[in-house]
Amino acid sequence: MAETVLSLLQLTDCHLTADPQARFRDIDSDHHLRLVVDDALSLSMVFDRVLLTGDLVHHGPAAAYRRLLSIVDPLPGLKHWIPGNHDEPAAMRECRNQPCGMERIDLDAWTLLLLDSTAEPDGRGSGSLSEVSLQWLSAMLSETRDRHVLLVMHHNPVSTDSVWQDQIMLANAETLFDCLRGYKQVRGIICGHLHQQQALEQDGIPVWCSPATSVQFRPASDSFALETDMNRSGPGYCWYRLHADGRIEQHVRRLAPPHSLG
Ligand SMILES: [Fe+2]
Repeated sequence: MAETVLSLLQLTDCHLTADPQARFRDIDSDHHLRLVVDDALSLSMVFDRVLLTGDLVHHGPAAAYRRLLSIVDPLPGLKHWIPGNHDEPAAMRECRNQPCGMERIDLDAWTLLLLDSTAEPDGRGSGSLSEVSLQWLSAMLSETRDRHVLLVMHHNPVSTDSVWQDQIMLANAETLFDCLRGYKQVRGIICGHLHQQQALEQDGIPVWCSPATSVQFRPASDSFALETDMNRSGPGYCWYRLHADGRIEQHVRRLAPPHSLG
């Protein structure tokens, strides 16, 4: 019998602006997201789930989230979202009666656990998993020992070699990994926030980050810098294959940078 393989699509850090005519860091973030959606459709894949992993709107109202949902609507697969540090969870809840973090999705041998990492913001971009989220995570892990588990959150729980970004990573990452100790079923963590592709690891758990659909940040930078390498500065996204034996593959898609808006 053929092995069941799940496919997940991750779109992250779309940063749609409240006013669709406005720009986010000089780009038309609606247009970038449309390009990404068109590219994902061109793969002709059936995605089991579409994960929208935060910073979906850059401080905007429910109308901006409705715009986002209408742009991603043509994609196959149920859509799930979590907030990032620039999102407005109240606006997200206003336009869609769906969980906004602390969501469990069971798919064959896999359980996806979606977490809200925006508790206790420091005002610069960092965030944490709340005590309630951590307790929920522990309870879910206790129930899923015989399954494969993938965690999904906005903030990266592992440092990179980027000084300014390490200062705004998941603030209580140590507590998270303390919580995961003793549960062997966690096969990976996927996140956004970094605006760059990363494949990291902590305590034997792979941690993947997807490029943003909006703009990319330069890796290994002491201070904030946009990516200028033309091969990596265009809109990007990831899709993943989850195998029945617990293996996860990350696939990265990068689009050519759209022409300058002038
Ligand atoms: Fe972002």
